Amino acid sequence: MDFELTEKQKMIRKLTREFAEEYIAPVAEESDRIQELDPTVMKKMKELNYFGTCIPEEYGGAGLHDDTIAFAIITEEIGRIDASWAITTGVHCSVCAYPIYKYGTEEQKQKFLIPVAKGEKIGAFLLTEANAGSDAGGVQMTAEKDGDEWILNGSKIFATNGGIAETMLVVAKSGEKGSRKELTVFIVNSDTPGYSVGVKEDKLGCRASNTSELVFDNVRVPDDQILGNIGGGFKLGLQILDYGRIVIAAQCLGLAQGCLEEAIKYANEREQFGVKIAKFQGIQWKIADMATDVESSRLLTYRAAWLCDQGQPYGLAGSMAKLVASEAAMNAAHQALQIHGGYGLMKAYPVERYFRDAKLGEIYEGTSEIQRLVIASHMLRKR
Ligand code: CAA
Repeated sequence: MDFELTEKQKMIRKLTREFAEEYIAPVAEESDRIQELDPTVMKKMKELNYFGTCIPEEYGGAGLHDDTIAFAIITEEIGRIDASWAITTGVHCSVCAYPIYKYGTEEQKQKFLIPVAKGEKIGAFLLTEANAGSDAGGVQMTAEKDGDEWILNGSKIFATNGGIAETMLVVAKSGEKGSRKELTVFIVNSDTPGYSVGVKEDKLGCRASNTSELVFDNVRVPDDQILGNIGGGFKLGLQILDYGRIVIAAQCLGLAQGCLEEAIKYANEREQFGVKIAKFQGIQWKIADMATDVESSRLLTYRAAWLCDQGQPYGLAGSMAKLVASEAAMNAAHQALQIHGGYGLMKAYPVERYFRDAKLGEIYEGTSEIQRLVIASHMLRKR
C-alpha cells in the first residue's frame, strides 16, 4: 500500500491551488452575489483545459482519463476556494464528457466529445424531473420513435450547468411499458429546435453555478445520438452517477479543507479573555474533529478514485466517499462559522459562503439518504 501521491499529482495540486488562489478567490464573493460565473475565470479555465480534465488528449482533453486521483485533486483544490466552480467543471467533466468518452461511439466522440473537452461547449447531465430525483427510474420525459429519429418531450429541473449547457446527456422514457428498462440516454445539443431554458434557480448556496429548468418541446434527435443502448438508460444513468459521486466527494473534501484552514487562521488571530481563542480547548476540539473528518474524506475519495483507475468496481467506494465528504463539509462549515462567532455571519469572511455552499453536497447526485441505501444494498449483497 502506498499513500504517496505521484510527482505529477503533486504538481497538479500545486498548479491548481495557485490558479484557484490567483484567479478564483478574488472574484468568488462577487460571483456568489450576482449568481454568475466570472467570464475571465471561465476563459482562463478553458485555456488551461480544466473542462477536459478526464479526457484523453486525442479528444481535446488534458489526458487524466486514467488518473482519477489527479482529477479528484483538481476538483478538491478548486472546491477549497469556490464550490461553484468545482461543481461547474466537475459536473461538466464527470457526468457529461467522461460518459461520452467511456460509452460513446467514435462518431459521437468526434462530434460531441471534442468540443466539450475543449470547453467550447459546456456539458450537463439531465436526469432530475419534478417527480424523479432520488427515484431515478421515475423519469417521465418521453422519447417517441419516429423513423430514424426520436422526439423528446418533457422538462428537467435542478440541472447543474443547465442554463449554460450546450451539450447535454438527457435521460428519457423510450418505451411505454413503465419499466426502468425503458429509459434511454440521448446526447442533445442546445441549438436543437424545440429546446429552451426555463427558470434559473435562485439558490441558497453554490449560487454562481447555474441551475436551471430545461424544456423539451418536440425536440428531434437522430438514432445516432443515443448513448449506449436503447432501454439501457437506467443502469447507464446510475453508472454515470457512480463516477460523478467521486468528483462530488472531491468537491466536498475541498470545501471542508477550506473551512478547516479558515477556522485555524481565525482562531490564531482572534483574541478573547486576553488570549488567542486557539488556546481554548473547546476550539481545539472543533479543529481536531474537522481535521480528522477532512483526512477521512480524503482517504475515502482517493481510494474510490484509485479503484476506478485500477478498473475495479468503485460504486460502493464512491458512495461512501460522497456520504462522508459531504457530511464532513457540512460539519466543517458549521464549526468554522461557530469559531468565527458573529463575524462568521458576515460576507467579509468566506465561511459565510462556505456554510451556504456546503449543503448542496448532501443533496445532489444522490442525497445522503440515497448513499446510505446504496451502501446498505452492497453490504446486504443485493448488488
Ligand atoms: N450501476 C449499474 N446498475 C445499477 C446500479 C449502478 N450503480 N444501481 C442499481 N443498478 C441496477 C440493479 O442491479 C438492478 O438491476 P436488475 O434489474 O438487473 O436486477 C436495477 O439497476 C434496479 O436497481 P434497484 O432496484 O436498486 O433500483 P431502485 O429503483 O431501487 O433505485 C437507487 C436505486 C440507488 C435509489 C437509484 O435510483 C439512485 O441512485 N437514485 C439517486 C439518483 C440521483 O443521484 N439523482 C440525482 C442525480 S442528477 C443531479 O444531481 C443533478 C446534476 O445536475 C448532476
